[in-house]
Amino acid sequence: MSSTWLKSAIFYEIYPNSFSDMNGDGYGDFAGITEKLDYIKSLGVNALWLNPHYDSPFMDGGYDVRDYFAVSPRFGSEADFDELIAAAHARGIKVILDLVPGHTSEQNADFLKSAEAVRNELSDRFIWTNGEWEFPQGFRAISGRHDRKGNYIVNFFSTQPALNYGFNRIDEPSWQMPYTSDAAMATREWLKSVMRFWLDRGADGFRVDMAGSLVKNDGADNEKPATSEIWRDIRAMLDKEYPDTVLVSEWSDPQAIRAGFDADFMLDHHGNPYNLLVRAEEREGCYSYFDIAGRGDGKAFADGFSAWYGEVKAAGGYIGLLSCNHDTPRLAPQYTAEQLKLVYATLFTLPGVPFLYYGDEIGMRYIKDLPSVECGFARTGSRTPMQWSVERNAGFSTAEQTFLPTFADKQTNVAAQTKDKKSLLNFIRSLFEFRKTRKEFAGGDFEFLYADGSKPLVYRRGELIIVVNPTKSKCTVPVTVPPKFKPIFSAGKEAKAQKTSIAVQPLSFTVFGGK
Ligand code: GLC
Repeated sequence: MSSTWLKSAIFYEIYPNSFSDMNGDGYGDFAGITEKLDYIKSLGVNALWLNPHYDSPFMDGGYDVRDYFAVSPRFGSEADFDELIAAAHARGIKVILDLVPGHTSEQNADFLKSAEAVRNELSDRFIWTNGEWEFPQGFRAISGRHDRKGNYIVNFFSTQPALNYGFNRIDEPSWQMPYTSDAAMATREWLKSVMRFWLDRGADGFRVDMAGSLVKNDGADNEKPATSEIWRDIRAMLDKEYPDTVLVSEWSDPQAIRAGFDADFMLDHHGNPYNLLVRAEEREGCYSYFDIAGRGDGKAFADGFSAWYGEVKAAGGYIGLLSCNHDTPRLAPQYTAEQLKLVYATLFTLPGVPFLYYGDEIGMRYIKDLPSVECGFARTGSRTPMQWSVERNAGFSTAEQTFLPTFADKQTNVAAQTKDKKSLLNFIRSLFEFRKTRKEFAGGDFEFLYADGSKPLVYRRGELIIVVNPTKSKCTVPVTVPPKFKPIFSAGKEAKAQKTSIAVQPLSFTVFGGK
């Protein structure tokens, strides 16, 4: 855990297809992102996470990498990519890339080599059974697509063959290799070579896709001893060769930090703290704390979050806190813009690294029932093009047709919200600005001071006392604010400190501070 910049990082996630199209082909591109860097900087973010930028047949939005050492021509040239990195760095913006370590595209050259009928040096780069009629329990195996005698295991969709990092528990010794076998070690070295390649090109780190998926039969998410061993080995390589590299995992368990990651996303999993805070609505009988009708449970959230945070902190890492991502429904229209201010203010003042998903700063909506494109399925509705203005294609592209439809309305676009002082966009800017002025957000201790059902939640970051009320009821909570403290940041009407309590206004967020 050597990177120094992560503690004050604020990330912006960009799905390259959907951000800005400069060449008019209906897909976003590198040049489009470069052109918008001043806008990105104006948000107050200082780091980017780019979803996969690699050459890909896009059978899973680019998470099916055909060539790990080339950019997708859809997004521009190699030079356009280098220019984007350089232009971001020139503005003090770090860039992390998506690393897909567990599986390739079925069109990947190494996979095709491993699928050849005659044994060769890459035969064991992927996981194959011995016989064409062998369908192992607990794995998804694809048959009859290649001349090799055997079936191959896939990690996600059927187009994504699993790379061979070996097995921890071996049930079928005839084809399951130990994770320390030469073949598994060779895959690990190949992965290091991919990382070195992009770090040499200027990347500042990686968001690691399905980071816990490498070694098979490796136990539950909070265990994964063999997979963890691999990541610790990779971390050691980075510490030696690229010491300031940041690794953020898609793992969603504190074990990721013990495995050497700097930060780990808390994803939307049923019943986990993130789910209980903002995303529980869709599940039957379970409501988020931000439920306006007050059916949520702040205590359940606070208890779960404290335990998770405690483990992550003890291991020396951070929780990645997301407004949304490319796999998750956007929070609008479930929440109104006024509610979103409270949600973002809370998420991004809790201890962790903020990740703002493109378009969330203007409250872009999740589009329900949008026909799937490039195997996005339900996720397609969170991947629609950025809404810059009410001009043609929401200002995203001049093409006749864009790869997904655009949905700008009068208010939900950057141009309109830039002019509106009270917009969500300008609120996000002031929130990130505020974060920068207070050292408490780059460390400092943290605890919940009050949590009880849907009543206002109160927590402390260093000396700051933060209170949020997600419902329409006024409420007084028994927390004492030091006498000289004043509201120094708020959304909605400010809360008022009384002698031994805080009077909290409906739908409001307030930070109390001394100096
Ligand atoms: C991760 C990605 C998702 C992708 C999957 C397979 O969950 O976020 O978009 O489909 O991994 O790579």
